[in-house]
Amino acid sequence: MDKTSIHGMWSSRMMFVLAAAGSAVGLGNIWRFPYLASDNGGGAFVLVYLGCIAVVGLPILIAEVLIGRHGRMSPINTLRKITRDQGSSRGWVGIGWLGIAAGILILSFYSVVGGWTLHYAWLYLKQLLGGAPLGDPALVFQSLLSNPLELTFWHAVFMLLTTAVVALGVEKGLERAVRYLMPALLVLLLLLVVYGFTTGRMADAATFLFRPDFSRINGGVLLSAMGQAFFTLSLGMATMMTYGAYLPRDGISIPRVVTVVALTDTSIALLAGLAIFPIVIAFGLDPAGGGPGLIFNSLPLAFKAMPFGTVYGLLFFGLLAIAAWTSSISLLEPGTAYLAEKRGLQRRKGSALLLAGISWVIGLLSVLSLNVWSDVKVPAGINVLGGKNIMDIVEFLANDLMLPLGGLLIALFAGWVLSRTVLREQLSEMPEWLFNTLRWTLRIVAPLLVLVVLVQVVS
Ligand code: PFF
Repeated sequence: MDKTSIHGMWSSRMMFVLAAAGSAVGLGNIWRFPYLASDNGGGAFVLVYLGCIAVVGLPILIAEVLIGRHGRMSPINTLRKITRDQGSSRGWVGIGWLGIAAGILILSFYSVVGGWTLHYAWLYLKQLLGGAPLGDPALVFQSLLSNPLELTFWHAVFMLLTTAVVALGVEKGLERAVRYLMPALLVLLLLLVVYGFTTGRMADAATFLFRPDFSRINGGVLLSAMGQAFFTLSLGMATMMTYGAYLPRDGISIPRVVTVVALTDTSIALLAGLAIFPIVIAFGLDPAGGGPGLIFNSLPLAFKAMPFGTVYGLLFFGLLAIAAWTSSISLLEPGTAYLAEKRGLQRRKGSALLLAGISWVIGLLSVLSLNVWSDVKVPAGINVLGGKNIMDIVEFLANDLMLPLGGLLIALFAGWVLSRTVLREQLSEMPEWLFNTLRWTLRIVAPLLVLVVLVQVVS
């Protein structure tokens, strides 16, 4: 197999960790995790989520990266190459197609929410430059959602930013941005946690997040927690396979680097929870049932109350937009890499633009489902889809079904199809017992767990 990828290579192990962490850490940690915890009973959800990361997420993350590093191409061509070399069924290439489709779907609403963060950064910037202070946060958020033109505008800006980076290839500029801006976001999050302590409600927040009420665990909670574990680790849609294809081989232990990525990602989600819930409780909002508006309704309350709140607001939403940006590029990269391989590398820009355009148009469905079509919902109580609007349905299909299904197939592929020799060669640093444990987890444990959760929801 080739030693390098035609799309370029990460310049160091550190660069891979930063890029993969950049992909993993995003809206999923700071926007989605807190509100899912809020909607699904707090501690029970968090516990299942952590379990899914450890038992299912981490092994599949290792598998994805190593398949990519072995094949060195876009997911589809990597899988073609491996199945050809090993004489196995070409059907496995479907994992690549499923992943690219999931990426375009996820990007469609990810970009809409990325647009919300840009809008908020803009609001705080205007205020800082002397504009009127933000009004009641709930009203500000509601007025954004009810305005399709405004949503479409910011959705377009966010999508263009994403396209620009992917079109240029993963440039030094981005590598540098990730290096400085991600730590800055972490510092800001820590400051918000400190602020959370000053509200005196940290203990209540921790209780909500970490004391599991097992009676709250049902099929829906299990599926949301598992979907979120895949979503937050950028798993199951061949993103990490693509990033693995650009990872040098020499002396880099995949399990070690991806463990750093997973730990960073999980810590940031938990910190986001500890930053947000004290504020929610202290300002008299209900920690349960916050929905997708949770951070937009709660954090501005704190920014209003604290000294230099406007600066914090600008920094927070600005950095959140950047965290979302380093994730959204990784949603577009697998499909772009494939098209570029097919149509010629010099047509990378056009490929990125084409896929982003498709995703942007699909995103308009999400935009409209927030206002003009807000009444278009699946009747309540039908099944897991009951009460969902169009944006919810796209999210559900992609995050909760396609990602776990993709992950399940990737685990089976790495466990049963990929030869033991290739697997061992990619994981040569692992002690034998750990290697065997991982292989059997990929063969049996992870697929079974994913299957059990998927089946009991569909049935
Ligand atoms: N992991 C990103 C987040 O938590 O915001 C979202 C994401 C990026 C999901 C890339 C899937 C993916 F392939």
